[in-house]
Amino acid sequence: MSSDMTKGTLRTRHDPIAALERRTEEALLGEGQERLDKQHQAGKMTARERLALLMDEGTFTELDRFVTHRCHDFGMGERLVPGDGVVTGFGRINGRLTFAFSQDFTVFGGSLGEAYAQKVCKVMDLAQKNGAPMIGLNDSGGARIQEGVMSLAGYADIFLRNVLVSGVIPQISAIMGPCAGGAVYSPAMTDFILMVKNTSSLFVTGPDVIRAVTHEEVTKEELGGALTHSTKSGVSHFAADSEEECLLLIRELLTYVPQNNLEDPPLGATDDDPLREAKELDTLIPLNPNQPYDMRDVIRPILDHGVLLEVQEHYAQNIVVGFGRVGGRSVGIVANQPMVLAGVLDIDASVKAARFVRFCDCFNIPILTFVDVPGFLPGVDQELGGIIRQGSKLLYAFCEATVPKITLITRKAYGGAYDVMSSKHIRGDMNFAYPWAEIAVMGPEGAVNIIFRKEINAAADAEAERGRLADEYRERFANPYSAAGLGYVDEVILPRRTRQKIFTALEMLKDKRDTNPSKKHGNIPL
Ligand code: HXC
Repeated sequence: MSSDMTKGTLRTRHDPIAALERRTEEALLGEGQERLDKQHQAGKMTARERLALLMDEGTFTELDRFVTHRCHDFGMGERLVPGDGVVTGFGRINGRLTFAFSQDFTVFGGSLGEAYAQKVCKVMDLAQKNGAPMIGLNDSGGARIQEGVMSLAGYADIFLRNVLVSGVIPQISAIMGPCAGGAVYSPAMTDFILMVKNTSSLFVTGPDVIRAVTHEEVTKEELGGALTHSTKSGVSHFAADSEEECLLLIRELLTYVPQNNLEDPPLGATDDDPLREAKELDTLIPLNPNQPYDMRDVIRPILDHGVLLEVQEHYAQNIVVGFGRVGGRSVGIVANQPMVLAGVLDIDASVKAARFVRFCDCFNIPILTFVDVPGFLPGVDQELGGIIRQGSKLLYAFCEATVPKITLITRKAYGGAYDVMSSKHIRGDMNFAYPWAEIAVMGPEGAVNIIFRKEINAAADAEAERGRLADEYRERFANPYSAAGLGYVDEVILPRRTRQKIFTALEMLKDKRDTNPSKKHGNIPL
């Protein structure tokens, strides 16, 4: 054995431990403290600070810390930065295994090249094989220009994985800086997008390109800021006030979802009595069907501690979607909102709810549907915008969903919208109605105007005759008992007992198994 193979000599001659420590220190500094300071000055955390906050304390394990790019063009050969502009690895969120990547804007502007993409793909593959959620923290100038088509290939490798793991593991994207060009399509194909107000932007082509091509003037914030995407385009599901809020929101969101499509969501402990009565529900809903109320006032008393995590809260507000728990069980909520546009179904509401229903169905989250809907929104804009195609997305989503489906008609369920909103006919498992529910082809006034037009016109007092006939129609059809008599409504319930009824139904359905015919995939009207 030569003398330098002894332990002591090795340490003195090469000191591998010191070398590792030095390399690690260098890697953690990226391209230097100055750049990290600049990131802070821009009001943003560094990639590693974000991961530290996202994961349970001290649980993050970084992979590929020493990976560098292999590009020699444009002076890149002299600029090798360990990690290559993205931090990847795994850790625990609320004690559960989670994979993540965090783009490092301080290194090449977080831009994506070949080696960088391979790092991201590696953690995505690990997330898939281990059946754990995948979180992407985005802050990047997009495709690394110096690497040309290699970076486009890298994006495509990621896109493919986004699609292959869709519906297998939950995927969540936070936009915490720029995200532009084709790069937007990776977050777009994940389950949820969160944006941070003022510091994040998301667009396919930025203000400069738009000015040059269409001569439109628009700011970055107006075009692709958090408010735009959470109120107007519907691209983003949450808009956080700060990075910290955004990261905590991801942690909260994950408490409602299972690790993968083969598991059930975690059963939370609750000290909120599942049989608790909510007396306020007996008087909350105005009997006059034209008077609005806030559907969230019906939903909250039913949920554990009244906690509702709304998704896309500021977009298509005529429908409410979100997560809650009943007796510790995670549920997805879809509810018409009579306070906005009378709770009508329009294009945006249908698409918003359809995507949410499909998420819940992918991940075994029971769906509670609250119905107070006058129908689909009439209008030239809606018809030309494709309400037929767009509205059918929601119908399709509810039809194909095989998770437990519990429906409560709180007041109106008119026309096609009655069928759409998780009715008995499309495999609603438990369909409840309040005693004043009106289930009919259309509202009484509209109905008598059509079927009794001649009689009304011939009457001495047309208005009085219309009113009399409408009352008759309401008595006959606009109540829950015709539907209950046919078994389309399983039970007409006392409002104060809603939580108890829903809890009991969830317990009954907890092992529900239902399947769709075997096929490659359906053809949802996109
Ligand atoms: C390589 C990039 C880069 C990129 C930024 N940088 N974007 N390097 N490729 N795409 C580098 C800059 O050269 C700079 O390096 C550092 O990152 C910080 O950039 P700054 O411009 O100084 O920062 P800031 O003023 O904050 O502006 C950030 C920015 C801007 C808005 C992201 O850099 C920008 O517009 N970049 C180009 C964005 C873009 O067009 N990307 C391609 C999109 S198309 P130094 O060393 O000077 O600090 C796309 C296609 C994807 O991504 C296709 C997928 C199919």
